[in-house]
Amino acid sequence: MNTEFNGLVSRRGLLRTGAGLLLTTALPPLPGHAAGSNEYRIAAAPARARLAGDSRPETDVWAYNGTIPGSLVRLRQGEPARLVVENRLDQETTVHWHGIRLPNAMDGVPGLTQPPIKPGGSFVYEFTPPDAGTFWYHPHANSLDQLGRGLAGPVIVEEREPVAVDRDLLWFLTDWRLTDEGGIASGFGNRMEAAMSGRVGNTVTLNGRLSEAEPVRAGERIRLRLVNGSLARIMALRFEGHRPLIVAIDGQPCDPHEPEGSRILLGPAMRIDVMLYMQGAPGRRYGVIDDFYDGLSYPVTQLAYDEQRALREHPLDAPLELSRNPLPEPDLAAAERHDLTLQGGMMSGMGGMQGGGMMHGMMGMGGGAAWAINGMSMTGDGHAGMEPALTFQRGRSIILMLRNETAWWHPMHLHGHSLAVLSRNGRPVSHRQWQDTVLMAPKDIVEVAFVADNPGDWMLHCHVMDHQMAGLMTVLRVA
Ligand code: C2O
Ligand code: CU
Ligand code: CU
Repeated sequence: MNTEFNGLVSRRGLLRTGAGLLLTTALPPLPGHAAGSNEYRIAAAPARARLAGDSRPETDVWAYNGTIPGSLVRLRQGEPARLVVENRLDQETTVHWHGIRLPNAMDGVPGLTQPPIKPGGSFVYEFTPPDAGTFWYHPHANSLDQLGRGLAGPVIVEEREPVAVDRDLLWFLTDWRLTDEGGIASGFGNRMEAAMSGRVGNTVTLNGRLSEAEPVRAGERIRLRLVNGSLARIMALRFEGHRPLIVAIDGQPCDPHEPEGSRILLGPAMRIDVMLYMQGAPGRRYGVIDDFYDGLSYPVTQLAYDEQRALREHPLDAPLELSRNPLPEPDLAAAERHDLTLQGGMMSGMGGMQGGGMMHGMMGMGGGAAWAINGMSMTGDGHAGMEPALTFQRGRSIILMLRNETAWWHPMHLHGHSLAVLSRNGRPVSHRQWQDTVLMAPKDIVEVAFVADNPGDWMLHCHVMDHQMAGLMTVLRVA
């Protein structure tokens, strides 16, 4: 499957050979931010970026504060934050603070939670992040284009009591579809792609650059925050010669555990924090390989050990576990149950979808809905008049049965809440995990629970942006 991407992905090989040696994990600078404050100014504007190395042409992008990824927004748990967003694009935008449990009016969905920010206009987002962890921000207007052209940035909400690490690193991973001239390929919203795996690109950057190697030192304990900021590319990361321990998923701490099959599965919009003990030898290099798509494995980067002798002889003897966030515990015995069934796409083997018999497209994309949830297709991006598919009474515990009846993978995301994953295909999950973005394999049935404690209208959608635009989106109301 997905052979159509062969040509595109192998072209990446060409890009890489010209990439030169990059030894940087530097986080983007923080313009518009006074040290120690929880206040940021963030401007969305056209910019140029060297995504593929110094020997390759620059790319015209859209960026937050001129960098790819956008400025790191570093907040403190439980302290009010103020984020002033300016729109210097020639189209409307908004900013959505993905995964942060905030008041509905700050959620950044045009038409649903706020009016869009007009070109030249601005909007002030104010909220107090209840949870520490790794989050990110991106537009929720014309998202396929705006995210695909570079508008995305990381948010770190600091713990009150951090765990002991030698270094806290962020790898913001982004998939791009670049032309040979270094431009962003056109063809956003291709109908065929939208009904298949979405716009998977040909170049994966780490903190905004193709990465040849990332410098590390033997004996270090590193907390590595992985963010998949891609439109559609799913990643499965293997760390050669290392044993990463997952300590948080989508910002929410979990019991430290090794990933299944030694691969860290990272769907679009997901974040995974791992603890890495740098057990390799000084002077050596170890690949970090993404081999999600059959036959298309490639190195995301290499861990490049410097020549210094090990910082310590044995792994740091300090706790790895992050302190839990104040999430409300759903009452499973008393919970309401609802089904959300994902339908459509190519090769779904279902009648009706192709003929449009069960489509009730609400707008946009030339009427071309390719997907549905419970038989309804909400297409495009946030807009006025989105009616909720389900309404919950505030404070109720809810169990959702997410059924993927399609032949494709979907990272399903709910705004404003975090979901406790209970079971997958009838088997309880082995580690209790909370997620705001649940990656579903074809035909998966995933049971999730949460307390509907945050009032408002919340989007639930697939985070493969072309899937969302083509109908894999709905709204849940907490009244
Ligand atoms: Cu990260 Cu509705 O989005
Ligand atoms: Cu979100
Ligand atoms: Cu999807």
